[in-house]
Amino acid sequence: MSEDFDPARLSADKAARYAELAQEIAAVLEGEPNAVARMATIVSMLASAFEHFFWTGFYVVDPAKGNELVVGPYQGTLGCLRIAFGRGVCGAAAATGEIQIVDDVSAFPGHIACDARSVSEIVAPVRDAEGRLIAVLDVDATVPAAFDGVDAAGLSAILNQTFAMTPVPA
Ligand code: SME
Repeated sequence: MSEDFDPARLSADKAARYAELAQEIAAVLEGEPNAVARMATIVSMLASAFEHFFWTGFYVVDPAKGNELVVGPYQGTLGCLRIAFGRGVCGAAAATGEIQIVDDVSAFPGHIACDARSVSEIVAPVRDAEGRLIAVLDVDATVPAAFDGVDAAGLSAILNQTFAMTPVPA
């Protein structure tokens, strides 16, 4: 449960750390259907589990626009409010539906610099149980090449278990 969550107890090995974190997140969120509560909790637990996560947050698909992201729950310095599909790393993840790993954001065409200290980032699409894109998860670091396939797998697993669990048939 949330009051028992102690990041210091998580494994040093990154893959094991993600697996343990996924279990902790599932335990904390059990029975909580609200998407904002889920996103805020994931962001808090990720940011406390990985010290190099400089900016950790969700950009959600704005239902009023359909092709625009608007900032959701996050931890870090002030983020941009809106990102059009196709713009920057978040917009690329939303437009392509593919996870984006960027070792050096200055080399990424159209990168949106919300905070000049962000150097590398990973952005993962978030889908609901019907496979619809509902948001992207953006994690930025102040060091180059901070993210790899282990982060992609770990973050995707957490997002899938939280937002895309197949509902139990009636
Ligand atoms: N880096 C993102 C913009 C969002 S912020 O960094 C918080 C991008 O280029 O999509």
